[in-house]
Amino acid sequence: MIDIHHHLLWGMDDGASSVETSVAMARLAADDGITHIVCSPHANGTYLYEPQAISEKIGELQRLLDKEAIAVKLGHGCDFHMSYENIEEAKLNPAKFSINGLGYLLVEIPDYGISRGMTEIFYQLQLAGLTPILTHPERNPTLQADQPRLVDWLRGGVLIQVTAGSVVGRMGKHAERMAHDLLANRWVHFLATDAHNTTSRPPKMNEAFELVAKKYGPDYAHLLCVSNPLAAFLGKPLPPQLEPLNLYDDMEKKSLWRRLTGR
Ligand SMILES: [Fe+2]
Repeated sequence: MIDIHHHLLWGMDDGASSVETSVAMARLAADDGITHIVCSPHANGTYLYEPQAISEKIGELQRLLDKEAIAVKLGHGCDFHMSYENIEEAKLNPAKFSINGLGYLLVEIPDYGISRGMTEIFYQLQLAGLTPILTHPERNPTLQADQPRLVDWLRGGVLIQVTAGSVVGRMGKHAERMAHDLLANRWVHFLATDAHNTTSRPPKMNEAFELVAKKYGPDYAHLLCVSNPLAAFLGKPLPPQLEPLNLYDDMEKKSLWRRLTGR
């Protein structure tokens, strides 16, 4: 499995607190069946995102993992928060925040006060060559209360990443319920751990993989945990997806009579 959202690097944000924790998290991930990890530190008002320092740390950690025979390949990404500065910078320099500099961008939106202009912002990021991946909408209280807000974004080509812990009930009842609503509609493109440590936010996704395979089919589980995230890691187009449900119902072709009469 490929984990595209993971706070593995020590001393960069609220993720791993020491190099020992980073190594322990990578070991847990490998034991869970994860072969690739995108190191995705926050870029927000609290944590400055410094690509050069991150690259150097990834190189250092990769050498340590190789030495310890922990078979995980590291990549470089960012937990991109929708601030004015970040958006403007991403439009000027699309490679800076995207996964391995190849175009897929993890995007976190605010819990409250989501602007009606968000659809336009996603579109502008796409015009700059980026493919936005909305991170864990199932944990967002505004979206939990108003799931149809996702419809325009999905129709516009925004992809969705759900946290593996939400699928198995580790992020609360509301997140679990919405994760399964999204999965049942085939509105999800990626599962990822969003791991921060070895205990409360561990780097595990196999249990979620198994549950998705059992409830929604092994093909869908494979897309979410293997083929789609691998495509994002490599900057390739996604493979063919399963058809989403309840996304285009109101766009069904209406007869001339119904269009004229509005019935
Ligand atoms: Fe995150």
